[in-house]
Amino acid sequence: MCGIIGYIGKKDAKEILLNGLKRLEYRGYDSAGIAVLQKRKTSNIEKITVFKEIGKVEKLEQKIDRIRLISSVGIAHTRWATHGKPSKSNAHPHVDCAEMISVVHNGIIENYRELRSELEEEGHVFRSETDSEVVPHMIENYMKTMSFVQAFSKTLKKLKGTYAIVAIHAASPGKVFAARLSSPMVLGVGNGEYILASDASAIVEHTNTVVYLDDYEMAIVSHDGYSIRSFTQKEKRKKEMSLDWSMDQAKKEGFDHFMLKEICEQPRSIQDAIRGRYISENGLARLGGLASVEKQLRGIKRCVIVSCGTSYFSALVGKYMIEEYAGISVDVEYASEFRYKKAILDDQTMVLCISQSGETADTLAALREAKNKGALTVGIVNVVGSSIARETDSGVYNHAGPEVSVASTKAFTSQLALLVLLTVFLGRQRSMSLSTGKRILKELSEIPQKIQKILEKKDSIRNVVKKYVSYENFLYVGRKYNSPIALEGALKIKEIAYVHAEGYPAGEMKHGPIALIHKNFPVVVIVPDDSVSDKMMSGIEEMKARGARIFCISTENRSDIAEIVDDVVYIPKTLEMLTPLLSVIPLQLFAYFFALERGYDVDRPRNLAKSVTVE
Ligand code: BG6
Repeated sequence: MCGIIGYIGKKDAKEILLNGLKRLEYRGYDSAGIAVLQKRKTSNIEKITVFKEIGKVEKLEQKIDRIRLISSVGIAHTRWATHGKPSKSNAHPHVDCAEMISVVHNGIIENYRELRSELEEEGHVFRSETDSEVVPHMIENYMKTMSFVQAFSKTLKKLKGTYAIVAIHAASPGKVFAARLSSPMVLGVGNGEYILASDASAIVEHTNTVVYLDDYEMAIVSHDGYSIRSFTQKEKRKKEMSLDWSMDQAKKEGFDHFMLKEICEQPRSIQDAIRGRYISENGLARLGGLASVEKQLRGIKRCVIVSCGTSYFSALVGKYMIEEYAGISVDVEYASEFRYKKAILDDQTMVLCISQSGETADTLAALREAKNKGALTVGIVNVVGSSIARETDSGVYNHAGPEVSVASTKAFTSQLALLVLLTVFLGRQRSMSLSTGKRILKELSEIPQKIQKILEKKDSIRNVVKKYVSYENFLYVGRKYNSPIALEGALKIKEIAYVHAEGYPAGEMKHGPIALIHKNFPVVVIVPDDSVSDKMMSGIEEMKARGARIFCISTENRSDIAEIVDDVVYIPKTLEMLTPLLSVIPLQLFAYFFALERGYDVDRPRNLAKSVTVE
């Protein structure tokens, strides 16, 4: 998903926009571009100057570093290619034929082909293969008979699909225009300056005061202020909200990569997720965000969890927890499938949406589907004020702080911690005993320091990686609570080291995947000391019998395992349902050091983006 930004203020627009693009780069890095409005000596119609470059933002920066652009108004874009390959001509911003209008877009315009051919029949000349380029040409077309604002809103009504758009117009100096339908858009309200961006990470260094645009809203921003309107030009009064995180949190703070920083932040991010949200002596979870639906939650008979990527794997762990300790049947659905299937939902069904960004289009669409079907919708979301957070009936924020690295780590364990609290919340509404509630919460409160103990072993994990870095294929296996961790471990090494890895419930091995066992196909086995570790031991024996090389994650009291596997990393002992919060840490570090050894850009892996805001 692309990152878009617009600036109007007193400062040098080029610098603000380039820095903003760097903050948004985790949304896509196939190409980058900038357009600024510059005064002309001879007329009050200003000049639009555009620069684009293929690849990462630093390439664009190198290109325009020495070019003096006197301007305090501009727009910029970092791209995740959907329509048209990564190239300079397909890079945004796009302009109209007369180069009077410039536009950046995040989203997909589904009817762009027919719009484009209509415009080409009218003589418009297109310079790119993108869907987005129809926007400036449509505005140009309508401006033959109407003002820019009228032409812009008429264009918006014609577009099908999803979009967040920021635009400038040479004959409307001192103004920036924006609109939103499904793709996120935030307006930062500063002191005499305004920043429009895909998310708050590009705004927080300038101001903590923001306005979130909703669907079918447009913004007109000038040096003196802003107005938010509907597409039919009806004025809208919007609440200004304040961001709860600082600029430092969005910096690497001395770490080589955001991913390593975020892995090492997990003791704190879990502490922040659970702080003030449980009463140990009563064995109760206290989730303020669910207070308004507490009664409804008491009546639900079924829970459906919808999510994507790493959030899908936390949902799978949540299913084990809620079914075992709250006695509620749970279905876990890929949001991208759920939105198109005939889901059977009723008012005794809770649909839980788990999303770090709160903007993943598939999860947002699944949420809207669930609402249409009358289900109670609850969210576990990290980004405050994001669409999923604002559209669910209720929910809980992770408070994990900004997660910048594309591969999710601290958001995952923070989601697991909140799923534990939700399980206790629902369980204690039902038949979970006081002592069970107290035991789970006591063990949960000790997880942060247990993770710290594992992080102190990161160098030994790096040494293990050195023995495996030459392999191109991996199997990851685990059972019960840790079968989703096998899937997550495999996903991590796929995401950032581009290695073929398959995660599997260990019991399934003998029904097929064991055929893959070979000396060049190592197996990562997750076998904490729990109710199924004996079953795992016989599985390990079977794989060793066929020559497998095994790297194992196990609990520190299981020294016997070291005799039969090739390498082992131990994690502290905890309750079975909490082992995923520990067993995933060595797998995150394994993938991180593996990618590092292979010299890959760990934070910006190829072809991926932090939040997928299009289908
Ligand atoms: C992908 C990210 O785009 O979306 C993953 O690269 C993430 O890290 C997945 O797990 C789901 O995102 P979210 O924000 O809905 O949890």
